[in-house]
Amino acid sequence: MLCRQRLRDAGYCQGRAEEFLPIAIDSAAAACLMLYLKWDRMLCLKWDSWLLAKKKILLLYAEIERDPEICTIDEKEDTAMSIWRLGYVEVRSLDLERDRHFWQEVGGLIETERGDGHVYLKCWDEQDHHSVILKQDTTTGIERLGFKVEGPRDLQEYEQKLRTAGVETAYIPQDIARGEALRFSTPSGHTVELYYQMEKVGNGMPRVNPVTPWPKDVNWNRLSPARLDHLSLPAADPSQTVAFFTDVLGFRLSERVEDDKRKTVAGWLFATANTTHNVSILKGPNAKLHHIGFRADDWTEIRRAADVLTMNDVPIEIGPTRHGITRGFTVYFRDPSGNRFEFFVDSVRPDPDDEPITWTADQLARGVFLYEKNMPESFMQCS
Ligand SMILES: [Fe+2]
Repeated sequence: MLCRQRLRDAGYCQGRAEEFLPIAIDSAAAACLMLYLKWDRMLCLKWDSWLLAKKKILLLYAEIERDPEICTIDEKEDTAMSIWRLGYVEVRSLDLERDRHFWQEVGGLIETERGDGHVYLKCWDEQDHHSVILKQDTTTGIERLGFKVEGPRDLQEYEQKLRTAGVETAYIPQDIARGEALRFSTPSGHTVELYYQMEKVGNGMPRVNPVTPWPKDVNWNRLSPARLDHLSLPAADPSQTVAFFTDVLGFRLSERVEDDKRKTVAGWLFATANTTHNVSILKGPNAKLHHIGFRADDWTEIRRAADVLTMNDVPIEIGPTRHGITRGFTVYFRDPSGNRFEFFVDSVRPDPDDEPITWTADQLARGVFLYEKNMPESFMQCS
């Protein structure tokens, strides 16, 4: 519905489909119509980044009376899907200067700002001002997380959805490098902020003819992740929190673990296409952090991360190895304060209309660590 409303507001969607059919036929994109016809959710996900010609396809599709034989419309059709990515996470540090040094000299993150007990960092291939905030504190764990949405209307839409669901919301003013945000708490007690503006600082590469594969100052003797990828959050009632992410925030499940009563006890949730998850929800204490995941390109990046950790005497908690869930490659470690981080790349790249993959609870250990078929006891700890 967000997509259709935007089309209407932009003047692309004011009449019946037949009136716009000639426009679509005139465009080169018309030939693609049948190819994209079944991808209704992909259209909604990607519409913002498509060229004008493809918007005309959207227009046509938004107004066309759908053929039930080729388009399956279910209860999720009207769910908002305007979250673009996990934008930032604020993590607590027991020693800010020590952890800042770790994340720069071992982690290879780029400091973009500091002050008032906080350090702002970004990964090398991110365009926005920051994705990781270190906060001086007396305990470890997660302070808040932010999802980037497209614009102010998304905040209004989500505010309405949250209020309808009985969730308290509050607009918070602009912060360092970030515009206003809509703040609320999940049933698991995690503070979430939706925002749509953040200062762009770039990735050190030109937007025209970027002829090198990475900026020349990236230090591959450091972890140097390309970008923040996902969070894993514990919840006392994971079924409730998974339902909150799907029913209120519009996420979809890529994979889930169910107990013998077929209740969801863990979920991997995505809001953006071509990733297994932006967030995973596991059984555990509310308001805590299980881990923060950085995205790697491929298996060799996971191996390199393990090498870098070893070179710097950083204990590896588990890995390099492979998950059954997501079929991802992974290595886990802790920062000096004890917060768990992951270098990760997934192999499952679900489409929004894929049925979630289900794991039964008796196969959970193989789902989490496919090779080891076992989870170390430390892995159950949260910060
Ligand atoms: Fe992860």
